[in-house]
Amino acid sequence: MEKLRVGIVGAAGRPSAFLAAFKMSDKAVLTAACDLNEDALNRALSGIDGVERYNDYIEMLEKANLDIVIIGTPMHLHVSQSIEALKRNIHVFCEVTAAVSIEECRMLLKACKESRAQYMMGENCNYMKPYMIIREMIMDGAFGSVFYAEGEYLHDCRNLLYKTPWRRKYQYETRGVTYGTHSLGPILSWMDWDRVESVCCAGSGSDNFDLQGKRIDGDNTALMLCKTVKGNLIKIRTDLSSPRPYSLNYVLQGTKGAFESSYVSKNQNYHHVWLEGESDPGKWDELIKYEEKYTPKIWRDIGAQAEAYGHGGSDAVIMTEFINAIYDGKEVPIDIYKSLDMTLPGLVSQQSILQGGVWLPVPDPREW
Ligand SMILES: NC(=O)c1ccc[n+]([C@@H]2O[C@H](COP(=O)([O-])OP(=O)(O)OC[C@H]3O[C@@H](n4cnc5c(N)ncnc54)[C@H](O)[C@@H]3O)[C@@H](O)[C@H]2O)c1
Repeated sequence: MEKLRVGIVGAAGRPSAFLAAFKMSDKAVLTAACDLNEDALNRALSGIDGVERYNDYIEMLEKANLDIVIIGTPMHLHVSQSIEALKRNIHVFCEVTAAVSIEECRMLLKACKESRAQYMMGENCNYMKPYMIIREMIMDGAFGSVFYAEGEYLHDCRNLLYKTPWRRKYQYETRGVTYGTHSLGPILSWMDWDRVESVCCAGSGSDNFDLQGKRIDGDNTALMLCKTVKGNLIKIRTDLSSPRPYSLNYVLQGTKGAFESSYVSKNQNYHHVWLEGESDPGKWDELIKYEEKYTPKIWRDIGAQAEAYGHGGSDAVIMTEFINAIYDGKEVPIDIYKSLDMTLPGLVSQQSILQGGVWLPVPDPREW
C-alpha cells in the first residue's frame, strides 16, 4: 500500500511538532502544508523537501490529493476546518480543544456522521509515557476500583497573548474551563472512558494583567467538579495566567492504591504510586518501579526515538498511533465521541460559572 498523503494547516505553529512523526513513519508522508504566514511556513519547512506550500486551506484540500489533514490552527477554526476536510472524506487529526461551543460540537458530529473519513482530537497528554503506564496498571487492577481523580493545568501563557491574540478571547476572557482536555483526557482514559454527566464550576476572580499591563477579564483559576455516569468524582483546575512555573498535575485514587504526579519539565518530574499490599505503609514508590512491567507496546516500540521530540515524546507517539489506525483501516483511538466527551464538560462549565456555579448536565453526543 502506498504511503498516506498528509497535509498540515497552521503548519508554522504548533503542528510543526508533528513533523518528527513523519520522519519516523514508513506509512505516511507529508506532502502539503498551509499557513497564512508565508515566511513562518518557509522557516518551519526549511530542510524538508517535496512539500507543496499553500496559504489558502481550501485550495490545499482541493489540490493536494490528501488522505489526512492535521489541523493546528487557533481553537475557533478547528470545527469549520474539520468540516471542510470531512466533507471531502479526508481524515482529520485536530488539535485541542475539539470545539469552542456546544453548537459547534453538534455541527462537528453531524459532519463526522456524514463522512467516510475519521476524526480524532489530538489529546497528546493521553500518550505521555507515565499516564499510559498508569492506564495499564489500572486495567490490570493494581489500583482496585478507581473512583476519584484530579487534573491541574497550570501554565502561565501570558507571554503568548500578543503573539497569538485569539487566546485572549477563547482561553482567557471566556469564564470557566476553556482548556481542560489536557487534564480530563488522561483521567477519562484511566476511568475506562467513563463519561462526565454533570459539572459545576467556580472561579477565583482575578486581579490580572497581561505582560503589557492591559487588564485580563477572566478568572486566574477556574475549578470544575465533574460527576461521571459511573458515579466517579473528578476535580479539574486550569490556570493560564498566575505567575509560577509550568506544572501539569494529576491525582488518582482507587480502592487499593493512589497515584500523584507532576510533570514539570523533561528533567524534573514527580510520579509517585502507593499500592496496598505492595508498597511500604505510609511510603510512596516511584512510578519507575512499575515501568518494566507496564510500559505499553507503542512506547517499547518507538519510545527511544519519540522521546527526542515534543512534549516528552507524546507528540510523535500520538501521531504514530493515528497514522497506524488509518493505514490499517482501524478505528482511531480517540474517536469523535471521546473527543467530545473531553471537550463538552469544559463548555458546560462555562455556563455553570455564569449561573453562580450550579450543577448542569453535560450532553451525551451519542444521543444527538
Ligand atoms: N496539544 C498541545 O500540547 C498544544 C500545545 C500548544 C498549542 N496547542 C493547540 O494548537 C493550536 C495552535 O496553537 P498555536 O499556539 O500554534 O497558535 P497560533 O496562533 O500560533 O496558530 C498556529 C498557526 O496557524 C496559522 N493560521 C491561523 N489561521 C490560519 C488559517 N485560517 N489558515 C492557515 N493557517 C492559519 C498561524 O499563522 C500560525 O502559524 C491551538 O488550538 C492550541 O490549543 C496544543
